[in-house]
Amino acid sequence: MTPEITGDNKKPLPDWNTLTFSLTETDYMYRCLGDTEGDPVWDEGEFIPFQDISLSPAAALMSYGVGVFEGLKAQKTADGRILLFRPDANARRLQSSAERLMMPPFPAEQFVEACIEVVKMNSRFVPELEYGSLYLRPMQHATEPQLGLGPCRHFSTHIFASPVGSYFRGGRPQGVRLKVLEQGRVAPGGTGSAKAMGNYAGAIWVAHEWKDQGFDDVLYLDSHHLQYLTETSGSNPFVLLKSGVLVTPGLDSQILPGVTRDSTIEIARNLLGLEVEEREISIQEVLDNGQELFCSGTAWTLLSAREIVYRDETRTFEKEDLRNEILEILRAIQTGQRDDPFSWIREV
Ligand code: COI
Repeated sequence: MTPEITGDNKKPLPDWNTLTFSLTETDYMYRCLGDTEGDPVWDEGEFIPFQDISLSPAAALMSYGVGVFEGLKAQKTADGRILLFRPDANARRLQSSAERLMMPPFPAEQFVEACIEVVKMNSRFVPELEYGSLYLRPMQHATEPQLGLGPCRHFSTHIFASPVGSYFRGGRPQGVRLKVLEQGRVAPGGTGSAKAMGNYAGAIWVAHEWKDQGFDDVLYLDSHHLQYLTETSGSNPFVLLKSGVLVTPGLDSQILPGVTRDSTIEIARNLLGLEVEEREISIQEVLDNGQELFCSGTAWTLLSAREIVYRDETRTFEKEDLRNEILEILRAIQTGQRDDPFSWIREV
């Protein structure tokens, strides 16, 4: 039985006009516990007031970072309905990320139902259309106290929600400025295709160094050859070549299979009739033949890269027509303003 939150215990609403990609605590979150020796592994889960979680300091999560997470958004339509974007895709990715870290997969239908319920219970925090969205942050952690490195038995899954606006303050209407790094984000054969905590922890310092020098973020080259594009700190790049072909790095152990990445590919191929290639693309090819560059992510949505700096070469991309066209279609599907030919939307 979910305790009802009333009166002063309700979390304050944010100022809708100044939403950024930062935490606003909401009323309820979801918690589910797992035990690999149990049958079923996962309990039925519960909805509880947003609160701190208690954990053994020896939990595998605490020392070894055995944890994975997700990000997805719910949006309001013009007539006040609430739509969740592709929760089934996040459910599947959470499962494969968890398996990469030797954690049991969380049941997909339970995940989708829990996401829908978290949105419903926090529905007063869903911004009106055009002001932002309600971001859900599902997470799975190994909670077993453990000193040595090895598989765990006890786990938790939590989902909390926060209303958010643009990832970058001001939204970067002119696009972002990226420093191209001759450095990998993750190791080849490592955890790059999983949404693992550690992939992001290591990237904070790197981006911070370059933000101090006027960049919005970094664009990592591959860790093996230091030649091919991989990702920014939290988005997948797309390059429109002068030939009209749209290219994005193919999925491998250094690339996260982004849900917005996949949505962009589907829209470009099936609604715009573009040729899309998922393959290695070198920084030299981008400099020589790129006419437009943009990055996709749930938090980033689709952001043009206005300028990139590679070694001492600065390359500016003036065009952003394709990014604008895809973003318009994506947003229209997400907010119920056009048909959803891909069955991506779950109404809350
Ligand atoms: C997202 O886009 O949802 C992410 O989890 C990326 C993170 C850097 C905010």
